Amino acid sequence: MNENTVVVSEKLTKSFRDFTAVKGIDFSVAAGECFGILGPNGAGKTTTVRMVSCLMPATEGRLEVFNLPVNDFPRQIKARLGVCPQEDNLDPDLNVLQNLLVYARYFDIKKKEARKRADEILDFIGLASKKRSAIEELSGGMKRRLVFGRSLLNRPDLLILDEPTSGLDPQGRHQVWEYVAELKTSGTTFLLTTHYMEEAAQLCDRLIIMDNGKIVTEGRPKELIKNLVGRNVIEISGYQKDLEPFLKEKGVVYEKTPSRIILFSKDSEHFFSEISQKFCDSACSLRMANLEDVFLKLTGRDLKE
Ligand SMILES: Nc1ncnc2c1ncn2[C@@H]1O[C@H](COP(=O)(O)OP(=O)(O)O)[C@@H](O)[C@H]1O
Ligand SMILES: [Mg+2]
Repeated sequence: MNENTVVVSEKLTKSFRDFTAVKGIDFSVAAGECFGILGPNGAGKTTTVRMVSCLMPATEGRLEVFNLPVNDFPRQIKARLGVCPQEDNLDPDLNVLQNLLVYARYFDIKKKEARKRADEILDFIGLASKKRSAIEELSGGMKRRLVFGRSLLNRPDLLILDEPTSGLDPQGRHQVWEYVAELKTSGTTFLLTTHYMEEAAQLCDRLIIMDNGKIVTEGRPKELIKNLVGRNVIEISGYQKDLEPFLKEKGVVYEKTPSRIILFSKDSEHFFSEISQKFCDSACSLRMANLEDVFLKLTGRDLKE
């Protein structure tokens, strides 16, 4: 590991009694990048980031953050981390501003400075007018933004976002993406988990795709799509029985899910009109390949169940 590496994990493993949630994964996060963990529910994303956040010890493997082993230096590491957990854990007995000020105390930020930072953060996340509101008065999206904003109080070098936009409507999701993009320009490093392929594609410089506690592939979003799937796929929902024999005869690789069939072929454009005319009952489209197609091709399953 060199000084530009913020997180390094080797054979990182986490077992809960007889169940292993993270099965010996290797990855590293470089300074200034947004590194993603994409995977379906239960893949082991939260377990992984909780270990990086020094909230849960690993069962086996090596894990270093800021060149420090997490087991030996949790306090030093936590001081430089911002953590936005998957579940909103705001204090319902405190108002919006108080939630930030109390959190600032964990980092020994002086009162006056904490107040200044809290005001800046509330402006940044668009909640300045809700400063005195009770937590229960906030919408789901506002709570999510507040948890996100709270993770910025100690001006972290590494920001860990666990499903930051889960449960948000598209507008709320885009807002969070804008915050991330803005913080990235100031050099913050991100470790982000998501089960939304658009989010991973939009935000992550590099990512690992996890499934059942293992890494199924890693790389830059565009390169993964290009190398593993290609430019286009044909997606069909509602197809005729003779489609599969046709595909087998032509040697077209495909995957079926309960609701659709996806064809992976270099010659998608060429096949499309024939397939759409002869074999489709309802929707049939030729579209650009995406990270969901990568997941489907590698695992045979949908990213979102
Ligand atoms: N404290 C725990 N005890 C037992 N099993 C757990 C615990 N935490 C997580 N798991 C299991 O580990 C697997 C991975 O969970 P998690 O890391 O939360 O996945 P993800 O965040 O990708 O949805 C799941 O099967 C989950 O049920
Ligand atoms: Mg999770």
